[in-house]
Amino acid sequence: MAKAKTKHVCQDCGHTAPRWLGQCPDCGAWGTFVEEIEAPVAAKAVASKTAASGGFARTSGPARSPLPLREVELTHEDRLRTGVGEFDRVLGGGLLRGAFVLVAGDPGIGKSTLMTQLGRMLPGQRILYVTGEESPRQVKLRAQRLGVDSDAFLLLAETNVEDIAHAVLETRPDVLVVDSIQTLFRPDIESAPGSVSQVRESAATLMHLAKSLEMPTFVVGHVTKAGQVAGPRVLEHMVDTVLQFEGDGHHSYRVLRALKNRFGSTNEIGVFEMKSDGLHEVSNPSELFLSERQYGASGSAVVCTLEGTRPLLVEVQALVAPTAYGTPQRTATGFDGRRLQVLLAVLERRAGRRLSTSDVFVSVAGGVRLEEPSADLGVAIAIASSLADVPADSNTVALGEIGLGGEVRSVGQIELRLKEAARLGFTQALVPKAGLKGLLPPKGLDVVPVATLREALERVT
Ligand code: TYD
Ligand code: MG
Repeated sequence: MAKAKTKHVCQDCGHTAPRWLGQCPDCGAWGTFVEEIEAPVAAKAVASKTAASGGFARTSGPARSPLPLREVELTHEDRLRTGVGEFDRVLGGGLLRGAFVLVAGDPGIGKSTLMTQLGRMLPGQRILYVTGEESPRQVKLRAQRLGVDSDAFLLLAETNVEDIAHAVLETRPDVLVVDSIQTLFRPDIESAPGSVSQVRESAATLMHLAKSLEMPTFVVGHVTKAGQVAGPRVLEHMVDTVLQFEGDGHHSYRVLRALKNRFGSTNEIGVFEMKSDGLHEVSNPSELFLSERQYGASGSAVVCTLEGTRPLLVEVQALVAPTAYGTPQRTATGFDGRRLQVLLAVLERRAGRRLSTSDVFVSVAGGVRLEEPSADLGVAIAIASSLADVPADSNTVALGEIGLGGEVRSVGQIELRLKEAARLGFTQALVPKAGLKGLLPPKGLDVVPVATLREALERVT
C-alpha cells in the first residue's frame, strides 16, 4: 500500500502545494496554509471512481445536454415559506428548492435550536435532521422543549457522508439539516473530520445531493475565535446562502444575518429572542432596542442604521470621564474602536470639544453592532452630550457620516430611515445637507439639514 503523503492547502482559496508557504501564490493571502494528509494512491483510485458521480452512483441519471435559454423552465414561486417572517426575510422571502444554506455561529448561540424549530415552522414537510454532535436522545429532549413532535421529523445520528447520502436517497426528505459540517467525514479522504479537505468534500457531496434532489439543505457550521466560519473559506463560496447567527451571552436577542445570498439581498437581518421555549421572532426590533432608553440623561443619541433593506433605530450611549492617570482610555462596544478614535480627533479639532484628557466609553444598546458610517453623527453627539453633561434632544434622530474636515456627509436610503423614525414618534431628524434635494420628509418629522458637526451639536445640545 502506498504511504500517505502530506500536502499543504490554502484555507482561503484551496490552492495546494507540496510544502508549507508563507504566502499563497494564487490568492496572495498570508499565513493561510495548513498541513493535510493526502489520500494514498490506491485509495484515491477507488475514490475517483465514485467521485465522478459525486460519491454515490444512484443519483446521476443520463448525462444532460445543454439547453437553449428559452427552453429552461421556470417554476414560479418555488419558495417554501417558513411562516416565521424574520426567518423568511433573511432567506430572501422563503426557502428555495435546492437551496444550500450554511448556518454559522458561535457555540451555544442557538443554531441547533433554530434548526430543530424548523419542525414547527414547516408543518407537513418531512425533515431529516442529521446529528453528528448530539445523541438522538439529546435532540429529542430539545425538540420536546420546543414543542416539536411530529412523525415527519426524522433523526439520524451519523457522520459518514456516504451513509448520510444513502439515508437521504432512501427517505427522500423535503428538507435536510446537517448539524454540523465539522463532524462529517468522507471515508475516501484521509484527513480528520473538520479539516479543510473533509469540510470541503463533505459539503460538495451534500451540495450535489441538494441540487439533484431539489432538496433545501441547511448545514450548521462553527465559527473560529476570529469570527470566521471554520474550515475553508471555499465553503462560503460554494454555498448559496450564508446565515450568521450573532448575539452575546448577556442578551437574549439573537440576530440572524444573511452574509451572502444568491436568492435575495445580503445583510438582511432577522431578530429573535431566546426564551425558555426556544427562539421567538421580534418583528419590530427598533421598538425593542429603544425600549430601555432613559429619557433626559446626557450621553445618549439615537441613530438609524440600515440592515439590508430594513432601517433600525438604535440608541448609542457615551460616557466621558476625566482620566485618572496615564493615557486616556477609549472603549467601544458595538462600534469600531478605530472609528471612535477618528471621531474623537474630529470632535477635538473641528468642533472645539476638549477630549484629550478624558476617558471615553461608547456602547450601542441591545448588543447591536453599528457598522454603517451613518452612525457617526449620533455617536459624536452622544460623546459631546456626555462631555457637557447636557442631554441631547430625545426626540431627535441623527443621520450622517462625519468627514475628517468636520463636515457631515450624505448617507444612502435617507427616506426609508426617516419613515422609520417618524413611525416611532420621533419629531426631529438631523440629516446631511448634501444630497437633500427632492427629499419628501414624512409627516410629523421636522428635517433639519446640517453641513458640519459643529452646526449639528449646536442644534441638539
Ligand atoms: P443551541 O441551539 O444548542 O446552540 P448551538 O447549536 O448554536 O451550539 O442552544 C444553546 C443555548 O440555548 C443553551 O445555552 C440553552 C439555550 N436554550 C434556551 O434558552 N431555550 C431553549 O428553548 C433551548 C432549546 C435552548
Ligand atoms: Mg448545536
